[in-house]
Amino acid sequence: MISFENVTKTYPGEVDAVIDLTLEVAEGETISLLGTSGSGKTTTMKMVNRLVDPTCGRILVAGVDIMEQDPTVLRRSMGYAIQHIGLFPHMSVAENIGVVPNLLGWDRKRVDERVDTLLSMVGLEPGEFRDRMPSQLSGGQRQRIGVARALGADPPIILMDEPFGALDPITREELQNEFLELETEIRKTILFVTHDVFEAVKMGDRIALMDEGRLQQFATPRELVENPANEFVDQFLGQHRFQLSLLTRTVRTIVDEVADTDGQGPSQRPEVFIPGHSSLVAALDLFKTTGRETIPVYLRDKYRGTLSKSDLIKVISQILGDTGGGQ
Ligand SMILES: Nc1ncnc2c1ncn2[C@@H]1O[C@H](COP(=O)(O)OP(=O)(O)O)[C@@H](O)[C@H]1O
Ligand SMILES: [Mg+2]
Repeated sequence: MISFENVTKTYPGEVDAVIDLTLEVAEGETISLLGTSGSGKTTTMKMVNRLVDPTCGRILVAGVDIMEQDPTVLRRSMGYAIQHIGLFPHMSVAENIGVVPNLLGWDRKRVDERVDTLLSMVGLEPGEFRDRMPSQLSGGQRQRIGVARALGADPPIILMDEPFGALDPITREELQNEFLELETEIRKTILFVTHDVFEAVKMGDRIALMDEGRLQQFATPRELVENPANEFVDQFLGQHRFQLSLLTRTVRTIVDEVADTDGQGPSQRPEVFIPGHSSLVAALDLFKTTGRETIPVYLRDKYRGTLSKSDLIKVISQILGDTGGGQ
């Protein structure tokens, strides 16, 4: 869907912001672009919608070189959400969300319907929020509007540059979780910039870790954590190795090994169950909040065995041993 082919960006003054980047983002995939400040993430993202043009190399979107496309048309085909979301202050919520649909010439009724759909999608009651001004919103609500605006004309590609970066940790986590839910419904190709390794692991199907303009590793969160490609990646993960390996290891990957798979399990999926895609941390949390000693594991609707709290803790201690105890 998006291909970077040996892309380099040198800003005036010989600043090499991105160096020889080759990266392929598949359709429907979410890529976390991860790195410390100044590593070239924003530049990489801005080259996709031509807010910045590469110095050399090519970027293809759906097989077409973006330099052969009109930048304005190109931009309208991609959603863009950024940290200080830049809602237009003199426009209502509805006008902000409707910006791109209006530019594309949608009729009034279709825009209004789209605005209401998007408000509901990001968890805001349309009747209450449609006519508010940005100054009448909390930080979290503003970011939600920012996400809704990025989805405005239902573009296949969404670019997000630290979209939740300015929020307090609780609101931030809330928005991450909501966005993950939303994403499973909308199936977009998403480039998600973050400097936070936990956010990168949570949001990305794959992570592109950059340093000083160079791609250091491009891998699934689990590969990144378990097989760092070089010294830099290893250092970058550093003291978070233990916690990260619990986040990237899902229940599905341990269930055959440690769960009790005798018997059929309940004939219907019970109220309390562990979804196979849960991380080990989330599974442990569920034991804590429910106070149970055993919980059945389900992959979608299929019973896969019953996990006990003590076996889960054993696996976790084993990982703790493997990763040096997270000191
Ligand atoms: N418009 C610009 N002109 C000159 N240098 C820039 C410009 N934008 C970014 N840079 C430089 O390019 C490098 C990468 O910046 P950026 O892509 O914003 O990194 P990140 O988003 O990872 O923090 C930095 O050294 C930054 O100072
Ligand atoms: Mg940036």
